[in-house]
Amino acid sequence: MNFYIETYGCQMNVADSELVTSLLITAGHKLVNDMDQAELILFNTCSVRSHAEERVLGRISNEKHRKKANPKIKIGVLGCMAQRIGKRLIEDKIGVDFVIGVDQYDRLPDLLSAKEMNPYLLDFEATQIYQDIMPIHQSKTCGFVTIMRGCDNYCSYCIVPHVRGRERSRPWHDVVNDVKKAGQEGLLDITLLGQNVNSYHDNEVDFPELLKRLESVDSIARIRFITSHPKDLSDALIDIMASSKRVCEHIHLPMQSGSNRILQEMNRKYTIDHYLSLVAKLKCAIPNVAITTDIIAGFPSETDTEFQDTMSVINEVGFDYAFCFKYSPREGTDAATRPDQIPEAIRLERLQKMIDLQREITLSKFRAQIGKEVEVYIEGMSKKNKDQVSGKTRDFKIAVLKGSESEIGSLKKARVTDATAGTLICK
Ligand code: 5AD
Ligand code: SF4
Repeated sequence: MNFYIETYGCQMNVADSELVTSLLITAGHKLVNDMDQAELILFNTCSVRSHAEERVLGRISNEKHRKKANPKIKIGVLGCMAQRIGKRLIEDKIGVDFVIGVDQYDRLPDLLSAKEMNPYLLDFEATQIYQDIMPIHQSKTCGFVTIMRGCDNYCSYCIVPHVRGRERSRPWHDVVNDVKKAGQEGLLDITLLGQNVNSYHDNEVDFPELLKRLESVDSIARIRFITSHPKDLSDALIDIMASSKRVCEHIHLPMQSGSNRILQEMNRKYTIDHYLSLVAKLKCAIPNVAITTDIIAGFPSETDTEFQDTMSVINEVGFDYAFCFKYSPREGTDAATRPDQIPEAIRLERLQKMIDLQREITLSKFRAQIGKEVEVYIEGMSKKNKDQVSGKTRDFKIAVLKGSESEIGSLKKARVTDATAGTLICK
């Protein structure tokens, strides 16, 4: 079958789509980049906020007419939405032929070749790590390598532990092999993926030790990792970030709130003092470190003062970038059952204030780079200017400079000449 796959949500889903692509190609199917040529249309979906789910539902209803024109076409839903509302997706007859959960992807080829298609494959497999399946990287420059699956943290707002199951780590030598293979393919920038990479442990090696073992993979220039949980970020990790020549000077460290009471209600298991002490250690050990974060506005019961506490910490830390979200109640999570939900209008207002503040800070962070020399990994042509290439600095800032297609995949030394709140303009 010709298959087309559309991916929503986080990098973990991007990596899972690459895994599914590999499984299907091995089984003799063919990846196409144009939905018009596909007999199998897959949506790899996200449930983290309701908006993400609504977008996919809209997409499916837009595409179901294809099945009328060609009854051979099958539509499958993968990922977190399949896991969360898979049964509903089939029963509501919105055009979905089958749903397949995050631990069942290795059964997809059999499902497709079966005489009668089983519409539900949703069981959790506590030990599923997709051993020995090499994902097919979609990018020619940057690759994702999954080091662990699932999450045990149960932050009270979050659907992930409910849809991705318990935490499990892949053996360190498999991770090293995958990184080596990605390097052999010419990818210089590798991001290690897990919901909480700081708690990686394969019974032999912990996360800082894993990074040490990756240091000897010469074909890789840059190693990144997402996501870190402040409660598990160790001094050993900061030390290796400071001493490694491959691990990039960037950490994504979700703060979620600047109020101790809200952090506790979120079940985050750290205080804001602890968070600030990590920031201080990181800045001291890695002088040019970039820190990015996730923050939620309007968690149930959040008062105006507590929201202001978050705004103060945003100012105090000076994040290079913050992904700001309006709290979205997720059915099945503890926080969604609370009676003290914040009205939508207030959540939106707080979100906007947070975005405005962070935009100013991001602009000043980017402008502070003017005059500096940076290393840019050229990842593609600039979308705005056909004479420019675009890429990323080691500290995860987008940079554009004059160049041509032949430079894609190369590392360039460049000088920052100007900056907006999102792009470094370089020479
Ligand atoms: N509402 C809003 N934001 C959420 N996130 C996770 N769950 C929710 C929710 N219910 C955010 C967190 C997390 C990021 C990936 O998504 O900030 O770090
Ligand atoms: Fe969700 Fe918390 Fe797990 Fe992150 S650590 S995936 S926010 S439960």
